[in-house]
Amino acid sequence: MKNQMIIGIILTLIIIIFIGVYWANEPARQEAARQELFQEKMELGARTYATQCARCHGINGDGLAGPPLTGNRLPEEALTRIIQRGIPHTVMTAWSAEEDGPLRDSEIRHLITFINSWDDDLLDSVREESARESGEAAAAEPDKFASTGESLFNGKGCAACHGNNALGRVVKPGPSCLSCHTGDLRSLEIAPALPGHSAEEITEKVREGSKEMPSFDEDKITEDELGEIIAFIEDIPVPEISGDLEASLSEALEAVRNEEIFWAGLQLEEALTAAELDVQKAQIEKVIENVADGNLAEAAEQLEAMVSGEEGDGHAH
Ligand code: HEC
Ligand code: HEC
Ligand code: HEC
Repeated sequence: MKNQMIIGIILTLIIIIFIGVYWANEPARQEAARQELFQEKMELGARTYATQCARCHGINGDGLAGPPLTGNRLPEEALTRIIQRGIPHTVMTAWSAEEDGPLRDSEIRHLITFINSWDDDLLDSVREESARESGEAAAAEPDKFASTGESLFNGKGCAACHGNNALGRVVKPGPSCLSCHTGDLRSLEIAPALPGHSAEEITEKVREGSKEMPSFDEDKITEDELGEIIAFIEDIPVPEISGDLEASLSEALEAVRNEEIFWAGLQLEEALTAAELDVQKAQIEKVIENVADGNLAEAAEQLEAMVSGEEGDGHAH
């Protein structure tokens, strides 16, 4: 009887001490749980960054085809909106599933957590992990790119704007355009076709960039890599302008110079039918718009460039 009482008291004391210690540690436990949750979000965000964004914003976020994302200074609201809806008229497309993009809202939230607390080491380890996983996949399709130049053209982000085969890229009108535009809308050229450009032209453009194209210094693309990219572009046959297309364009140029608007319009419609590349079509549509708006000097200039086989000034401003 007495022994039982003593055991009872001891047990009670143990429970009281246990509960006390437990509560004393509670804030620390909560903090640890918070940290763990944060790390999980960071890791998920880093994964999405590595698989979706790195090819344009750089492996370490220091910029490539798109601007750097490290040291972000955009307010959270703006950052969210840009990622969800994209930047119209650019290759920065909408990512939110609501806008037909590939990412769920939770994925975008984790991505933003990661961007705001950028961690290169975490990114490295995530990348190593996925490289190990995709190593096996890559072994299954070793010839994804025919040459080093082609894989550089894709990997350094040129393809994001100029298209996989350097034949230019346009955005076609879709539902997302209707928030700003109404009625008939033509396609918009993102970047022109590249075959036919000389090594000097390519080098100058890549190193200096322009208002619409980012520049790439030797940290981003070495001399050797640029050589490979140039060789890749030089190997692509210059898209042939068919006899029909050339004839219609020349007729249209003549008509624009003589201010024969109606005849110019007819010839341009024929050119549109004869054109094969999306960028050619986008450029012709732009000439048609200029003719309709009475901007004949500009239309003539564009037509001259197209007839002489050069790149027309058909891109976005
Ligand atoms: C196909 C290339 C491409 C991909 C993929 C891409 N971006 Fe972009 N991004 C761009 C370009 C180009 C711009 C600049 C557009 C402009 O304003 O001309 C940009 C701009 C941005 C900006 C605005 C930056 C600033 O300082 O104004 C943010 C933020 C951004 N991207 C985040 C992302 C995130 C996050 C992802 C991955 C989900 C992503 N981007 C994927 C090309 C890309
Ligand atoms: C963010 C989009 C973007 C990226 C990335 C990009 N370009 Fe461009 N590029 C353009 C645009 C837009 C033009 C047309 C405007 C101009 O000439 O500045 C252009 C023009 C050019 C021209 C001159 C074409 C002409 O007809 O005048 C060359 C050559 C070129 N790019 C090569 C490259 C190469 C090589 C890469 C990759 C290292 C690259 N570009 C990456 C957007 C881009
Ligand atoms: C956020 C608003 C907005 C959205 C979304 C938008 N645009 Fe525009 N767009 C504009 C504005 C503003 C202009 C006039 C600026 C200018 O003339 O350069 C314009 C001009 C244009 C032009 C003529 C300019 C040129 O350089 O040839 C075309 C073509 C065009 N947009 C196509 C599109 C297409 C296609 C989409 C959808 C994929 C789209 N836009 C989505 C605001 C928008």
